[in-house]
Amino acid sequence: MSSNDLVHLAADARLRAYAPYSEFKVGAALRAATGEVFTGGNVENVSYGLTICAERVAVGSAVQAGTTEFDQLAIVSDSEEPVVPCGACRQVLAEFCPDLAIVSRTLSGRTAEFTLSALFPKPRQGILG
Ligand code: THU
Repeated sequence: MSSNDLVHLAADARLRAYAPYSEFKVGAALRAATGEVFTGGNVENVSYGLTICAERVAVGSAVQAGTTEFDQLAIVSDSEEPVVPCGACRQVLAEFCPDLAIVSRTLSGRTAEFTLSALFPKPRQGILG
């Protein structure tokens, strides 16, 4: 599965996001080392603070399927600039794959690529240590 295909799966997942409050739907597709792909869309909540980002929904779906090794994450949003995962998602992604490759694309096709290790360099330092 190419990174372009992964982006398409993220775009499809975005359509199933639940975002009635922000109306900002995000889709994520996480490719496992096995080649399997797990998707997620953001799930908002009336309390706002309990909202779950698309990336974390994808992680939960993968873990529930028994998969914890990933090599790429694609994110799709309808924004001016490609979104970058929030701090909470960075920590959760780093639990399983600290050097994950990330591609983020807008509906208009603007694309950004980064590594999780650059966005979040010391995920475990000093924790349970
Ligand atoms: N959101 C994501 O799902 N992923 C991101 O990377 C950025 C933000 C969601 C959370 C919330 O439902 C909405 O986008 C607005 O922040």
